[in-house]
Amino acid sequence: MKPFVRETAIAAPLMRANIDTDQIIRIDRLIEHPRGQLGPFCLEALRFAPDGSERADFAPNAPRYRGAGILVAAENFGCGSSREHAVWALVDWGIRAIIAPSFGDIFYGNSFQNGLLPVRLPAAEVAAIAEELDRANADEAPRITVDLQACTVTTPAGRVLPFEIEADRRAGLLEGLDDIGMTLRDRAAIDAFRRDDEAAHPWIYRQTEQPLVKKILILAGDGIGPEIMAQTRRVVEWFGTQRGVRMELQEELFGISAWKTHGHLMRDATWKAVTDSDAILFGATGSPEYAAIPPEHNQFDQLLRMRKELDLFINLRPVRAIKALAAASTLRPDVLEGTDMVLVRELAGGLYFGTPRGIETLADGQRRVVNSMVYTEREVARIARAAFLLARSRNGRLCSVDKANVLENGILWRETVEAVHQADFSDVELSHLYVDNAAMQLVRNPRQFDVMVTENLFGDILSDCAAMVAGSIGMLPSASMSAPAETGRKALYEPIHGSAPDIAGQGVANPLGSILSFGMCLRHTFNLPQQADFLEAAVERVVSAGTRTRDIADPGAAFVSTVQMGDAVLRELERSND
Ligand code: IPM
Ligand code: MG
Repeated sequence: MKPFVRETAIAAPLMRANIDTDQIIRIDRLIEHPRGQLGPFCLEALRFAPDGSERADFAPNAPRYRGAGILVAAENFGCGSSREHAVWALVDWGIRAIIAPSFGDIFYGNSFQNGLLPVRLPAAEVAAIAEELDRANADEAPRITVDLQACTVTTPAGRVLPFEIEADRRAGLLEGLDDIGMTLRDRAAIDAFRRDDEAAHPWIYRQTEQPLVKKILILAGDGIGPEIMAQTRRVVEWFGTQRGVRMELQEELFGISAWKTHGHLMRDATWKAVTDSDAILFGATGSPEYAAIPPEHNQFDQLLRMRKELDLFINLRPVRAIKALAAASTLRPDVLEGTDMVLVRELAGGLYFGTPRGIETLADGQRRVVNSMVYTEREVARIARAAFLLARSRNGRLCSVDKANVLENGILWRETVEAVHQADFSDVELSHLYVDNAAMQLVRNPRQFDVMVTENLFGDILSDCAAMVAGSIGMLPSASMSAPAETGRKALYEPIHGSAPDIAGQGVANPLGSILSFGMCLRHTFNLPQQADFLEAAVERVVSAGTRTRDIADPGAAFVSTVQMGDAVLRELERSND
């Protein structure tokens, strides 16, 4: 599009009100004539008699107005249908600017998109300019200067009249850019936004159909794992049959039950299922019976092995205060109320995996133990990015937790988080806390937090602490993922409570943390946020209606079994399914 800065051109009067876009270009002319060739047909019914001769009563036909580049027109020019072809026809005819008291709205907007400048002046001024054109020497073509830089019109008599125009429209025409061109000037910012937004909401950008069927592996594990997972599995299958969530479901033994059946804590076939699956629904690990397993079969914890080998470095632990459960917490209801935060725990590095590690016997016979809190800048930066992205999709606040006053580890952690913040996330509000203070703040005023990010062991400890906010650790789900975006992502979903061997087999465990973990799976693996919301709302209604397992029951009140809680969730899902 040609820019418009300052133009001096012959001006012709066209003082007829309400010239509409159908008069400017007849629709049938558009069928055979493309843009660029519409000039001969512009205003044709006014310009030409039926026999093709020029009409004498059409002022611009007068010899001195030949080659006019500016029209001086009456009110409501370009009213009627919204075709931008009307502007094309005028431009093809050679018109660069039109001065009139008023324009059809859409015509006015279209003009700027196609390099034509519409100038609005008071009706009396326009009439005065038309008179000047009339009075001009019959042999001399009257000229007008329209200066968009200065926003003035200089009439044939030399009068300089200021006009007003919207700043963004003026800027576009001065540079020869239509709306799309103006938008594309911000391309770098748009691309940066798109990159981050795509990482946070990948499903919006999905171009090709992803395989809809997800491979889900259930590993119930130890302790209360099988009891809670049996209820979760009912919910999973319900979403498959009743809500069309497409999955291949497989279940494998894990932990002590696998040891007893296969002689391995994780046999090869199970490990293959782990690496083949899109997501693992995990119950719990841990049992006194591990002590009896020969060390060569129990070299490492199989849950930690999955976290490490699948590189599940992002662990999301959302903590929301559920009003109906306020009494289940030892914290005061007014402290809990309104809390809605996510703890982002680094899960594939730090003290859990650092080397050197181990117990050695020294020369003097006493034993010595070493564990190492190890992080590279890259490992800190990638979890920081995931946390910043999450904060940006929520309330825009991130609190990073470290121990920088004592540990070098904390110093590097803090510097790296700061660097990521400065480079890409300055729109997110970043704060820092030492881990000891963070533990206190979580129980003093949990409402202050939006997203918290921290090292592996710190996150383990702080998430149990934050569990009191939700009333019971039995309520809290978690998601562990290998990348913030979707492509090829692996994920493992587990309640944050452990195997609770003390209550295993009694049928009293709370299955809601595990059921809500499947909710996170719907959100992050299936990319079905509405299904996730639906499940979370159903669970909330169940507890709000008073259905409680022992851990969340009011003191002395009746409570339901693990299976009865599963029944209640399924009844509520069924009831609210439409
Ligand atoms: C958790 C658990 C695990 C951990 C145990 C079971 C290894 O406490 O997920 O918080 O320490 O990470
Ligand atoms: Mg823990």
